[in-house]
Amino acid sequence: MPRILALCGSLRAASLNRRLLRAGIAMLPAGVEAEIADWRDLPVYDEDLEAQGMPAPVAALRAQAMAAQGFLFATPEYNWSIPGGLKNAIDWLSRKPDGTQPFAGKPVALMGATPGPGGTVNAQSHLRQVLYLLGGQVLPPPGVFVQGAGGRFDDAGAITDEPTRKAVETLMAALGKAVA
Ligand SMILES: Cc1cc2nc3c(=O)[nH]c(=O)nc-3n(C[C@H](O)[C@H](O)[C@H](O)COP(=O)(O)O)c2cc1C
Repeated sequence: MPRILALCGSLRAASLNRRLLRAGIAMLPAGVEAEIADWRDLPVYDEDLEAQGMPAPVAALRAQAMAAQGFLFATPEYNWSIPGGLKNAIDWLSRKPDGTQPFAGKPVALMGATPGPGGTVNAQSHLRQVLYLLGGQVLPPPGVFVQGAGGRFDDAGAITDEPTRKAVETLMAALGKAVA
């Protein structure tokens, strides 16, 4: 059964992007499984640290990423780019202790939500560039760029806005097809 590793660019409990990620996972086609990665305990990347052996949280995340057939991101934009914590996780994942690259040749779907008007266009553009370098097959447009996101979810995290729900559904169908 295909398995998706889902990564959220925000750690906060009330994260709009975590709601978006959960909503997306719920819309994946039947037969596609997903788990949300936890990168909270990753140390800041340091080559000296890596030389001592992969820290346990990195090794665990790497094992999840290697086992996944595809990836789903939902991320905010911080200062017109990828949140540092998420970029740090990708930087760790890009290291190849055994010569393997977790993203190489695998489908990747990108989404993002912001309370403002930008829709995370810059963050997703930068993320796409990084993942391209790492061999990820980032799905083509139309993507999911949720602007004014504060008003598009209910308290339970469900998407209340039909165009947003439809855009997520379309992307999840494409991701499901790509990993099938
Ligand atoms: C350090 C920082 C930088 C931010 N920069 C941007 C930005 O460049 N563009 C934007 O649309 N929102 C920006 N925001 C606002 C975030 O979009 C907003 O906090 C969002 O709700 C975070 O996502 P979350 O709800 O998933 O935690 C920034 C927030 C922080 C904390």
